[in-house]
Amino acid sequence: MTALFRLLRDADLAGRNTFGVAARAPWLLEVNDTGSLAEALDLAQVRDLPLLMLGGGSNLLFAGDPPGAVVALRAAGLQVIADDGVQAVVRADAGADWHGLVMWSLDQGLCGLENLALIPGSTGAAPIQNIGAYGVEVGERIVAVEAWDRRAQRNVRLDRAACAFGYRDSAFKRDPERWIVTAVELALSRHAKPRLDYAGIGEELAAMGVATPGAREVAEAVIRIRRRKLPDPAVVGNAGSFFKNPIVPAPLAQALQAAHPRLPVFPGDGDGTRKLSAAWLIDACGWKGAREGDAGVSPAHALVLVNHGAATGLQLLDLARRIAASVQDRFGVALEPEPRIVGARW
Ligand code: EPU
Repeated sequence: MTALFRLLRDADLAGRNTFGVAARAPWLLEVNDTGSLAEALDLAQVRDLPLLMLGGGSNLLFAGDPPGAVVALRAAGLQVIADDGVQAVVRADAGADWHGLVMWSLDQGLCGLENLALIPGSTGAAPIQNIGAYGVEVGERIVAVEAWDRRAQRNVRLDRAACAFGYRDSAFKRDPERWIVTAVELALSRHAKPRLDYAGIGEELAAMGVATPGAREVAEAVIRIRRRKLPDPAVVGNAGSFFKNPIVPAPLAQALQAAHPRLPVFPGDGDGTRKLSAAWLIDACGWKGAREGDAGVSPAHALVLVNHGAATGLQLLDLARRIAASVQDRFGVALEPEPRIVGARW
């Protein structure tokens, strides 16, 4: 029988964050059976400590050591829980690898996650920042999120509306001390409806010689684009986009675009707002490929901060602050970090 959990003291977190920066946790609790999460928190005597949930460690920056306990959920089951031959619902445990889930769903003949292929991290982290890429956000596919509510001390099942998804945002992200996501339920389809609206996917498919793409071909195109544009965290430490694309009032976007006709501008989160390309703004300030010691900006993508080897979280944070300050000075636009910053304030 597998033990319910494993508890480590003074745990090394360097191998557990994709930036690869040094950090240590006073306690690290690995929970094997998510159904017994509450019992594991009790038995390990960490229930009332500050808790940091750690999935793939691909969306956080350790600028200092986390206090309390770091909790990792290991259950990684994938199941089809409903299927009428047209639509199916898949349930995935929080510990499942996200990209593994995407490829498994394609193997089941289920479509809907293909644009989200190759995003690093765990399934439990996906709803927290509402991961998105190439025209699709995971929140569009989510039926419900199962979570442990630390405030009410009970398991809950939140439907999509209760998750309050926004651009790289959710109820879970707004109140991280309250929620421990344990599983995600996704509505997928047996009939491919390729989403090719994002510039670049159509071109990639054409380059692949695919005229009528199915979900698998779209996943392949996304994988090719990501491999080309985004550094692989297994090769050079990074956490994907370090900043969110800023959402600004439409008049500011118009004024900036008049002055800089090449600035990419996208619809915002409602009337009266627009989303700007943070990568373009950072690139225009000359940061792409910059390097200071081992902290740097990827030469492949201006939105990705990289650790060339021995950068500390504080060095990366300091670089990020100076990048944001230069974008603020030059364009009057405030950038916000996308990953969670642990151990320091932005
Ligand atoms: N651009 C530059 N310089 C660069 C890179 C990009 O000027 O070095 C400009 C180009 O004009 C390009 C535009 O920025 O057309 C947009 O670039 P890209 O298509 O790479 O998308 P992004 O807006 O920079 C967002 C997500 C990515 C996601 C891609 C594709 C955010 C914060 N980032 O990046 O998500 O993969 O779109 O959908 O929304 C992540 O969240 O970690 C992530 C990688």
